[in-house]
Amino acid sequence: MTSGVGKIRPLVAGNWKMNGLKAGLREAEAVRDAVAGPLAGLAVDTLLAPPATLLMAMTTACSGGGLTFAGQDCHSNASGAHTGDVSAEMLKEAGATAVIVGHSERRADHAETDAVVRAKAEAAYRAGLIAIICVGETIGERKAGETLAVVARQLAQSVPEAATAANTVIAYEPVWAIGTGLTPSPGDVAEVHGAIRRDLTERFGANGHEMRLLYGGSVKPDNAKVLLAVDNVNGALVGGASLKASDFLAIVRAYES
Ligand code: PGA
Repeated sequence: MTSGVGKIRPLVAGNWKMNGLKAGLREAEAVRDAVAGPLAGLAVDTLLAPPATLLMAMTTACSGGGLTFAGQDCHSNASGAHTGDVSAEMLKEAGATAVIVGHSERRADHAETDAVVRAKAEAAYRAGLIAIICVGETIGERKAGETLAVVARQLAQSVPEAATAANTVIAYEPVWAIGTGLTPSPGDVAEVHGAIRRDLTERFGANGHEMRLLYGGSVKPDNAKVLLAVDNVNGALVGGASLKASDFLAIVRAYES
């Protein structure tokens, strides 16, 4: 594949969202088996973000084979009177190595601002987790020609000063592409990812140059190869297609040469 930054190891991450009961662990086990077996030689990292209720069971059942795990959100505090919330420290203890913050569904459903997202990313660092920070424009913003400005603002305000290539992954997810089957053209993805790379490199130097930039939004087995080959796309954040091991693994296989 072509990439603006050759040495970045890609990441294919699956976000199960509010899906998955115990029976779903079989899918995670199948991913673990493939990642530890036939796909072990591929130069790609893999991660699943199950609902909080399954995290401990999944990390217990599926660890040790290279597959890693994330929470889908965290509170900014380590503990306290926050009914229904989960802290980064709790995710870490449950076996997560990362947490998704600022997903557009959290921004929309829970009115999360950039400042809230930034505090959550800082909580991830405090707990020793990688923050997967999501950004992306709505369809209205795209039609108004505001995509790059919106993404630049979200990056400036959601990504903490302490971000490094080791503790942060950026996921560009156009809101209108999530769960819709629609995707931007490879050219549009290249434009946004190129702008994100320039922005991060300006702000964080070598760390910005080496930070992983994932594309997310209707990534499927049949479009993964094209999307993952775009310059400055260092992997994918996959929603619906991560629920079935066969689909998720087909996306991981986009990195087969
Ligand atoms: P999707 O979701 O792959 O179902 O479009 C992506 C995401 O929201 O992370």
